[in-house]
Amino acid sequence: MRLRGLVAARRRRLGTAILLVVAVWALPGLLPEDLGLSFGIAYQLFFTAFTVAAVAFFELLRPASPSPPRGGRRALANVGLVYAVTVGSLVGVGQLYPQFEVPRLQPGQTELSPEERGKAIFWDGQVACFACHAIAGRGGKRAPDLAGIGARAATRKPGVPAEEYIREHIKLGSQYASVPGYPPIMPPFAQRLTPAQIEDVVAFLAALR
Ligand code: HEC
Repeated sequence: MRLRGLVAARRRRLGTAILLVVAVWALPGLLPEDLGLSFGIAYQLFFTAFTVAAVAFFELLRPASPSPPRGGRRALANVGLVYAVTVGSLVGVGQLYPQFEVPRLQPGQTELSPEERGKAIFWDGQVACFACHAIAGRGGKRAPDLAGIGARAATRKPGVPAEEYIREHIKLGSQYASVPGYPPIMPPFAQRLTPAQIEDVVAFLAALR
């Protein structure tokens, strides 16, 4: 009786594990394109490994019926330990494998160049240009891919040089110009970024040729 129960429970866990792994691989494909979210293969492998590890963890936990922890302090320490290990490993992976490569000061370097500062602003989670724009395929899909914008910007408005077009587009957003095939959803950044920050982003984008 007991054995049969154990086998059934194991089968249920295996079923759940298979379902989770299938979900990890199938769900990103079902996301609507214009959401602008895309997962790389590395993320899917990571989530798969995580699912397998979680199932293995519970599998190992099973055989001994868990004895209730003695005392509240011990229970608290256990919760703290599990929290530190799980959150710690996720943060660690995030550091090792950042979503986007952002320029950082190298040893011996005292200052980033305007282009590097602009790149960091573009990929910054608060500014989030990448929520709509990709550069060479990485980033959102709701707005034009900005690869090559440094050259293309000079052709957008007759008589307007590339840097001016980019600067005004950042300041005024969709009010400044539209691009066929894209909804006019770009907000103005004149208030959200300082003039110096805008110049840095202009330097970064103008150099993408
Ligand atoms: C909410 C979505 C959204 C965000 C956020 C956004 N943009 Fe845009 N952007 C667009 C869209 C859509 C266009 C296409 C033209 C238009 O309607 O403005 C565009 C156009 C542009 C263009 C002109 C492209 C071309 O091919 O002519 C530049 C340059 C640009 N954005 C830079 C930026 C920068 C830099 C940021 C961050 C500071 C940013 N955008 C944030 C949606 C966005």
